[in-house]
This record gives sequence, structure tokens and C-alpha cells, in this order.
Amino acid sequence: MSETVVSIHNAKIYQGGSLILDDVNFSVNKGEFVYLVGKTGTGKSSLLKTLYGELPLTEGSASVVGFNLRDMDWKKVPFLRRNLGVVFQDFQLLTDRNVHENLRFVLKATGWQDEKLIEEKINDVLDKVGLKSKGFKMPFEMSGGEQQRVDIARALLNSPKLILADEPTGNLDPETSDEIMQLLIQIARDYGTAVIMATHDFIVINRYPSRILKTEKGKVMDSAAV
Ligand SMILES: Nc1ncnc2c1ncn2[C@@H]1O[C@H](COP(=O)(O)OP(=O)(O)O)[C@@H](O)[C@H]1O
Ligand SMILES: [Mg+2]
Repeated sequence: MSETVVSIHNAKIYQGGSLILDDVNFSVNKGEFVYLVGKTGTGKSSLLKTLYGELPLTEGSASVVGFNLRDMDWKKVPFLRRNLGVVFQDFQLLTDRNVHENLRFVLKATGWQDEKLIEEKINDVLDKVGLKSKGFKMPFEMSGGEQQRVDIARALLNSPKLILADEPTGNLDPETSDEIMQLLIQIARDYGTAVIMATHDFIVINRYPSRILKTEKGKVMDSAAV
């Protein structure tokens, strides 16, 4: 039986008091790769923010990597975040330190103490994103594609069952977008990490077809629904 990592039922998603998405229902299994598509302003980021605990869920129910999101105590949000990886369009690396130190900072902040395990983990995630020998580089010395790989490495640090990626190829040229897509798809396939990726890049979607959730007219349509 497949393991469910996201399940959301009869949810309403609000932003600043306005209803953005109504009657949201879907589930995502371990290792699944799912696109979240829809025009700008239709609620893709709002939905992802709900799933990573940035927007509170006040109506309906949702379970994400075993956490119940409904009326979740804000003190639990850091624990939820440790169990998923988030990747953004603009990389969000700390610009004053190198790649290795960026990753180390996150591990320290999430409670890692053993220096040997920290080293091993950093080498492991850099290897997974194809940047094994680039740990000494400063973010400004790297291309956009390399910085996005570091962002993905960071998302992998706590071995998440789920990665939420908000337009991760939005700032990249087509060729680099392709490389990042292949990496994300490979992560889902090889490590069983579910990926929900918001995008409006139809070149990417057509080249790497997969299940699609679409935000439209205040609802989420699911290509997998029958
Ligand atoms: N912090 C916010 N406060 C109020 N309204 C917001 C906020 N962020 C987004 N919105 C509104 O919510 C709607 C959905 O936005 P968003 O989730 O960012 O869509 P998308 O990611 O699909 O472009 C838009 O109408 C947007 O203006
Ligand atoms: Mg958005």
C-alpha cells in the first residue's frame, strides 16, 4: 500500500481575509511528482504556504508528513518544517558564507550537533545534487542553476518525505531549467521523496509529464481525479 504524505480535505485557503481557494481536496503519495499549475494570482503559493505552515489552516482538514495542520500551534511549525523541504524561485541562500557553511547553518539551526555527522550529511546532499566539490564556493561565484542545486541540497538536509517547490525554475534559462527538473524528478524516483512543484512553465510540463493540480476559478482541479 502506498504511503500518503499529503492529504487535504474540504479546505478553504484565505489570504488577508479573502477566500482564495475553496473546497480543496487531494492527496499525494510517497515518491509522487505533482505539478501545481495555474495563472499568476490563482493561489499556488498560498496553497504551498498552507502546506508548510506559513498560512494557518482554519477550515477543513489537512495532514502533511504526519502533522495535522488544522489550527496547528505555531510552536509546532518548526517541527513540520524539519520534515519537509522547501525550494523557492530566488534560492534564498545566505550570501555572506560559502555553500558548506550555508548547509551547516541549517543543520545547526535544526539541532544537529555531532560534527562528524554534520560533515557526512553535507557531503551526502552535495553529492546528491551534483555539487560534491563546490562546497567552498560563495553563492555569488555560482550560476543560477548551481545556486538552485544548493537550495535543493538544503531542502534535502533533513531527509524529507516531501519537497514543496515554488516556481524553482522561474529564474532559470530553458537548459538550466531542464537540469533542475531532471534532478527533482530523480530525487522523487530514487529517494521516494514526494515533490509538489508550482510552475507556469508549459515547456517544462510538456517535456516531463506528470500529475497536475490546477488552480482555477477558486478551485483546485486534479488530473488524477476520476
Ligand atoms: N500576503 C498577502 N496578503 C493578502 N493577499 C495576498 C497575499 N499574498 C497573496 N495574496 C493574494 O492572494 C491571491 C493568490 O496569490 P498567490 O497564492 O501568490 O498566487 P500564485 O502563487 O498562483 O501567483 C492573489 O490575489 C494575491 O494578490
Ligand atoms: Mg506564486
